[in-house]
Amino acid sequence: MSVKILAINGSPRKSGTQYALEYALKAAAEIDGVETELINLRGKELNFCVHCNRCIKDNVLHCPAFDDVMSEIYPKILEADGLIIGSPVYQMSPNAQTTAFFNRLRPLGKLIATGKFGLKVGAGITVGGARNGGQDTTLEGIGNMLLASGYIVASGGVYAYNGGSLWAQGANLDGAKNDEVGLNTVSMIGHRIAVLAKVLKVGAEHTDYPEYQHAGFISEEEITARRNAFKRG
Ligand SMILES: Cc1cc2nc3c(=O)[nH]c(=O)nc-3n(C[C@H](O)[C@H](O)[C@H](O)COP(=O)(O)O)c2cc1C
Repeated sequence: MSVKILAINGSPRKSGTQYALEYALKAAAEIDGVETELINLRGKELNFCVHCNRCIKDNVLHCPAFDDVMSEIYPKILEADGLIIGSPVYQMSPNAQTTAFFNRLRPLGKLIATGKFGLKVGAGITVGGARNGGQDTTLEGIGNMLLASGYIVASGGVYAYNGGSLWAQGANLDGAKNDEVGLNTVSMIGHRIAVLAKVLKVGAEHTDYPEYQHAGFISEEEITARRNAFKRG
């Protein structure tokens, strides 16, 4: 049984967030049968969602408006069992690239109700320049975006509450590398997301719930009824 853990790095720099994600993926890979991949958004074309709704009207799993880094990411998101999102803290929040990435997942949104994301697990990792510079609020933002994308969000329990967070100590990469306490939260998240992804996959193979039940629906008719009710407002 193998699982794939994908990490997305929203930082425009090769610095603390990339280091943290590599650290988390190393911990994830310690679990037997775990494959990992890191995608850096840095230096790649990433457009904003323009809400043209063509992905919905055309019923496609890619963005008809832009052929950019997301074209390579959509199939990887569908394939991955776990998703780790790394964002630097910008104004106590996830940065623009990370938010744009999540907004651009809209073409896959139609699969949330079908249960495609119902057993996928997600987690956030963040790096801030200040010790208490908004790591928690940034992780909350990432967690909310994962929830809205259909993921189960992994906490790190009492040692890494709502995700992995580093204090770059103003010194950027070196500061992040020296934040021992923070690095423990990062490896805990990497380890935990891998274990959870694996247990969920094994569990799914040993139960016979149709996929839509992973999303909380009891029948396919219920999905259609909910969609129609949503359209009516
Ligand atoms: C536009 C901008 C806003 C920032 N806002 C915050 C902030 O609110 N709190 C904080 O602790 N650090 C803030 N920082 C510092 C970054 O979080 C810090 O440098 C971090 O190491 C960046 O991650 P990276 O090393 O992966 O690029 C900000 C940096 C920038 C460029």
